[in-house]
Amino acid sequence: MSLALKPLLLFLVLCALNPLPSVESAIPFITTLQNLRGISRGQNADGVGILRIYLKSLGYQVNEKSPSDNNFDANDESALKQYQAFHGLHTSGVVDDQTIETMSLPRCGIPDITATPNPNPNPNGLSSSPPQNYSYFPGNPKWSKFNLKYRVTANPSNVAVSLNVLRQVLSNALNTWRQNNSFTFNETTGVSDIVAGFQRLSHGDGNPFDGRGGVLAHAFAPQDGRMHLDADERWSTTGISPTIDLETVCLHELGHNLGLGHSNDPNAVMAPTYAGVRRTLRQDDKDGLNNLYGF
Ligand SMILES: *[C@@H]1O[C@H](CO)[C@@H](O)[C@H](O)[C@H]1NC(C)=O
Ligand SMILES: *[C@@H]1O[C@H](CO)[C@@H](O)[C@H](O)[C@H]1NC(C)=O
Ligand SMILES: *[C@@H]1O[C@H](CO)[C@@H](O)[C@H](O)[C@H]1NC(C)=O
Ligand SMILES: [Zn+2]
Ligand SMILES: [Zn+2]
Repeated sequence: MSLALKPLLLFLVLCALNPLPSVESAIPFITTLQNLRGISRGQNADGVGILRIYLKSLGYQVNEKSPSDNNFDANDESALKQYQAFHGLHTSGVVDDQTIETMSLPRCGIPDITATPNPNPNPNGLSSSPPQNYSYFPGNPKWSKFNLKYRVTANPSNVAVSLNVLRQVLSNALNTWRQNNSFTFNETTGVSDIVAGFQRLSHGDGNPFDGRGGVLAHAFAPQDGRMHLDADERWSTTGISPTIDLETVCLHELGHNLGLGHSNDPNAVMAPTYAGVRRTLRQDDKDGLNNLYGF
């Protein structure tokens, strides 16, 4: 695809690069976080550079510094506070227990912060209205039709669920998004708007998966309907710990395919971290979709 035709897609791909930068090193990201416990502004510790890359990959504002610069400076502190605020944590600016816990959760690979984190800060023009939690992708891209076709791609080897299970789960999740709006979704085997399937590690879109844990999935903004699920996760249709509920993740990723970014309502389907089975839309998710399409 050319740069001229797909600037938005390329922007997203660049933003979503390697959300867990340490996976190729010998030290897992979770271990790096443990080393950073209690770190605050002005202190040095191994792994500050990796934390900085992590925050940057999720769209938080950090300074360009060498990855080996392990001084946690004022900029790093402010990016960490931004992360804490987005995730509904105490904005201590310190790598505290809650922050480590949240960063250790499995999550979506799409960044938290895009160009339009707050599309509708003053709904109804009332300056006293609270800001919305949902967000859109830069430029608010959306579909220009309501009947979307979808299909699944063949499973790679050793995926925990079969292709027919994926088809059923995807159909359930699409039905959930269809409630009270004009969308219809029809499965095809040919050219489709939404194309979902499992992918493993590096899979040709510049956003390699990271094996089990960490990033679970990612999906593209309209009108590119690709949805990729990390083939190496312990997927199930129950979500019984330690398995990951496929429908919960499909529902979230479909939200991206329909034009929603991440929500800072921790209970929304569009919240970036996986927190167990969540198969119904919250008001914030419905409001986000309705305001994007004018339902
Ligand atoms: C759809 O939304 C409208 C406006 O919020 C509401 O009045 C209506 O009851 C909803 N219908 C369904 C089927 O949920
Ligand atoms: C397309 O899907 C909708 C539900 O999303 C269904 O009501 C309709 O019958 C389907 N159309 C075809 C041609 O299968
Ligand atoms: C945003 O999410 C928070 C946390 O759930 C909630 O208290 C607040 O009411 C939400 N704001 C809006 C405008 O929905
Ligand atoms: Zn996401
Ligand atoms: Zn991908």
